[in-house]
Amino acid sequence: MGEGMDSAVVLEEVHFSYPGSERPLLDGVSLFLEAGEVAAVVGPSGVGKSTLLNLIAGLARPAAGEVRVLGTQVPRLGDSAAARWRGRHLGFVFQQFHLLPHLTVAENAALPLALNGRSWTEGEVAAHLDRLGLAAQAGSYPGHLSSGQAQRVAIARALIHRPALLLADEPTGSLDEETAEAVLDRLMEVVRETGATALLVTHAPEVAKRARMRFRLSRHRLHREA
Ligand SMILES: Nc1ncnc2c1ncn2[C@@H]1O[C@H](COP(=O)(O)OP(=O)(O)OP(=O)(O)O)[C@@H](O)[C@H]1O
Ligand SMILES: [Mg+2]
Repeated sequence: MGEGMDSAVVLEEVHFSYPGSERPLLDGVSLFLEAGEVAAVVGPSGVGKSTLLNLIAGLARPAAGEVRVLGTQVPRLGDSAAARWRGRHLGFVFQQFHLLPHLTVAENAALPLALNGRSWTEGEVAAHLDRLGLAAQAGSYPGHLSSGQAQRVAIARALIHRPALLLADEPTGSLDEETAEAVLDRLMEVVRETGATALLVTHAPEVAKRARMRFRLSRHRLHREA
């Protein structure tokens, strides 16, 4: 995979602005995560946490600075190469879930396997869903789910192909405390089993507590917290 194999995520002095904004949203953000690291990012609403995940995933491009993820210089990938790269190496729990409405829960969850040309059985997907408390929903469509169920489907989809990097944006934001605990247990179990690197954006102290490294995004930069 070339250079940077030791570090799973490298951001160096990243600058980013949305078009038309007066000052940069991110103004010199740096982040280094070794492979297998579990890190959390906290910070107030609107500070740029989701944008930061999008930059790491190649869904947004920095105005300046280096973004190297799993040894790949993500901003240098074209759109379709970036999509293939994401499909293979990343699990992304989007804040707004982004489930595909015309696919069932099981089909949504299995999507990364399909995109990677992997074969699977209904039983495997059912077992995976069961571990997230979604056994009864396998045949349902996203429009018929509660938001907590939809969030768990988004998590199931992000983990099913055992990605090297998990990006999770408020992964328990729609879950009650008890369900959040169980879902986080499962998420951390997969991360540990696979040696994945994980970056979790959260407002919940219980989620941040699970991470070994904690960062706060404020004043346009990332700051390491104790
Ligand atoms: N596509 C976009 N075009 C223009 N501005 C955007 C876009 N997406 C986000 N923004 C703006 O950038 C800022 C950061 O947004 P972002 O979604 O990254 O914040 P966040 O920290 O994830 O917030 P929250 O905790 O509410 O999810 C906000 O002011 C938002 O309005
Ligand atoms: Mg956000």
